[in-house]
Formats: sequence, structure tokens, C-alpha cells
Amino acid sequence: MKIAFIGYGNVGAPLADHLQRLGHTVTLAAKESGSENVKKVLALNAAITVASPQDAVRNAEVVFLATPFQVNEEALKSVAAQLTGKIIVDCTNPVGAGLTHGLNNVQSGSAMVQNLVPEAKVVKAFTIYGFENFQDNSYPAYNIKPAMLFCGNDADAKGTVATLISQLGWEPLDVGGLDQALHLEHMTLMWVRMVRVNGHSPHLVWGALQR
Ligand SMILES: NC(=O)c1ccc[n+]([C@@H]2O[C@H](COP(=O)([O-])OP(=O)(O)OC[C@H]3O[C@@H](n4cnc5c(N)ncnc54)[C@H](OP(=O)(O)O)[C@@H]3O)[C@@H](O)[C@H]2O)c1
Repeated sequence: MKIAFIGYGNVGAPLADHLQRLGHTVTLAAKESGSENVKKVLALNAAITVASPQDAVRNAEVVFLATPFQVNEEALKSVAAQLTGKIIVDCTNPVGAGLTHGLNNVQSGSAMVQNLVPEAKVVKAFTIYGFENFQDNSYPAYNIKPAMLFCGNDADAKGTVATLISQLGWEPLDVGGLDQALHLEHMTLMWVRMVRVNGHSPHLVWGALQR
């Protein structure tokens, strides 16, 4: 697939690299083609291409949004026209002071993203664990794959994202519509508090067992 990345720091870079190595055509939507983060990604994987945000998004089927939450509006505004009909994988989390929900639990960050680009199909994914799990998420001591919970309103978009999640080595777990994003954002806060504050391993992930 043709995949663009808006934001390619801790989260975007390993996902972009991994997806390119799986055979996808990955392009950075770069405000500045010579930025430090662009250089870091190209050092990691020279097969990733770089384009203007408008060109990268226009040519993409799927767009990963991996920016600091507070810049989402600015980042999306410049490519709103090109995002019509596109799948956005919202990797962003609104995190407030003291590791609280950044929108005071009133609205999910993904609902805000969807409101900013109503013609796009937003799927929230890759948010409930730290970036340390995105380059290599193999857990060889277990015979199940780690679960990646995701949600969104468009069934086809979720199907596409589920395929990417699966290709990346996760068990895709569809938790429902975009109204579930608020709850995923609380899962994130729980993981962040467990790991960044209470000392659990950053390689702690969840498994989904069903019978
Ligand atoms: N860190 C984690 O473990 C983790 C895990 C899951 C989800 N998240 C969420 O993922 C998102 C990204 O986190 P991160 O740790 O990857 O951040 P990061 O390392 O700071 O990377 C942020 C990226 O966003 C870009 N950016 C900044 N302002 C922008 C703007 N106005 N327009 C377009 N792009 C802009 C930066 O561009 P430049 O290259 O130009 O600097 C950079 O590539 C956050 O919302 C975070 O909550 C984080």
C-alpha cells in the first residue's frame, strides 16, 4: 500500500521503517525535508521517500498521524483537502498535566481528529503501548501474538488497518466504533503510569485470550 506519515519521531519512525520493510511504499509528509527527524528516518531506512505534506498525503491510501497531540490541528489543516476519503491511523494521545486525559475525559482525541477532517476515515491504533514496541514486537516466549486494540467507525478502513496491524506482527483486536477511543486513551494513561512512573517494563503488552 501507499502509506504517508505525518510525524515520524519516536512512534512514526519505527512504524514507517517496519512497514517499508514489509513491502509498503512509505513516504514522509515532510514540512522540512532536511530536518533532523527526516535524516534519522533515512539513516534507518533509505528506501523511505520524502515529499511535501500535500504530495505525500495526496498519493497515499493510508496516512499515519504520529504528531504531538497539540499540533494535530495545525498538521491536519495544511493537508485537509488531500485527506478526503483517506484512512487516517490516529496514533496520537491527548495527555494532560499529571498524566491525566488531555481533554478532561469530555471528548476523545480521535473524535477531535475526526472533527478536524470529517471527510477522512479515522481509525485509532498504535496508541496503547510505548514506542519501544514498534520496531520489534516479537514475544518469542509466548505462542500468542501481542494484541493491538483499535477502533473506528468505517468497517472497510478498519479492515485495512487490521491487515497492517497483523502484518506488523500484532493480533488485531477491533474494540468497536470511534466512541471507544476515549477508553483506549485511558488504557494508554494506565500503561504510561505503570511503565513510566511505576517501573514496569516498557515491553509490557497485553494479550487477548478468548474461548
Ligand atoms: N512516545 C510514545 O511512546 C508514544 C506511544 C504511542 C503513541 N504516542 C503518541 O504519538 C504521538 C507522537 O509521539 P512521539 O513520541 O513520536 O513524538 P515525537 O518523537 O516528538 O515526534 C513528533 C513528530 O511530529 C512532527 N511534528 C511536530 N509538529 C508538527 C506540525 N506542526 N506539523 C507536522 N508535524 C509535526 C515532528 O516533526 P519534526 O520531524 O519536524 O520535528 C516529529 O516528526 C503523540 O501524540 C503521542 O502521544 C506516543
